[in-house]
Amino acid sequence: MKVWAVANQKGGVGKTTTSIALAGLLAEAGKRVVVIDLDPHGSMTSYFGHDPDTLEHSCFDLFQHQGSVPQGLAQQLLHGTSHDNISLLPSSTALATLERQSPGQSGLGLVIAKSLAQLWGSFDHAIIDSPPLLGVLMVNALAASQQLVIPVQTEFLAVKGLERMISTLAMINRSRKQSLPYVIVPTLFDRRTQASMSTLKILRSTHPDHLWQAYIPIDTRLRDASRAGLTPSQFDANSRGVIAYRALLKHLLTQQPASQVA
Ligand SMILES: Nc1ncnc2c1ncn2[C@@H]1O[C@H](COP(=O)(O)OP(=O)(O)O)[C@@H](O)[C@H]1O
Ligand SMILES: [Mg+2]
Repeated sequence: MKVWAVANQKGGVGKTTTSIALAGLLAEAGKRVVVIDLDPHGSMTSYFGHDPDTLEHSCFDLFQHQGSVPQGLAQQLLHGTSHDNISLLPSSTALATLERQSPGQSGLGLVIAKSLAQLWGSFDHAIIDSPPLLGVLMVNALAASQQLVIPVQTEFLAVKGLERMISTLAMINRSRKQSLPYVIVPTLFDRRTQASMSTLKILRSTHPDHLWQAYIPIDTRLRDASRAGLTPSQFDANSRGVIAYRALLKHLLTQQPASQVA
């Protein structure tokens, strides 16, 4: 199973959209995909029609066993989505109570890695939608992954958020056997705005090695897809956004993943 995390400590940059768009494209290619919603806001969970405020069981349950995960628990927590090939490990608002705990002290840093180990034979691909805060959940997302996708909104304040994410990654890499490869993805790009153009230029000059050379454009069809609860490619397979995500997926699949998890 390939495990990717989608993370950035800034909200509204396209993390959830990117997670679902990639999952949808993989699912259409016949891959069995599990998506994990580790954001206490539960946007991905809501996207697929489940209410994070009322769900009785969620990823939160995985964290209730002193760092070990009872056999079969991850499987029991899976929910359906709009696509037969995509299963969801949902978020719930209870996850917020874990957010600020220190993973070192609580011993909870590898809960998601252990949970995914239980799903290894059932899925080809896992995509983790990460929370915007550095805490137990972010540490779990990065520790469980072989590759990190960092969506960065092409606007002026975005570059600062990216630097914060990269220093978080450096910190987490110190406790990994192999550092986590990452790809920076410019999102919400609007070629008519000065902010988009100059942010892209800055990213290209400051992060040439890790930047995906294309971008995800602003595309209202992506918003419409989320309103319909469908993956972007189910909603409109030929929209500009989906075409861009298809190119991104191709790029990500050519990257060398970290061979060892945590
Ligand atoms: N490329 C895009 N074009 C237009 N709207 C987008 C695009 N990417 C994301 N959005 C919209 O922007 C909002 C924030 O995106 P989201 O993926 O939820 O960000 P995050 O998960 O980082 O908070 C959502 O309403 C989403 O539908
Ligand atoms: Mg989100």
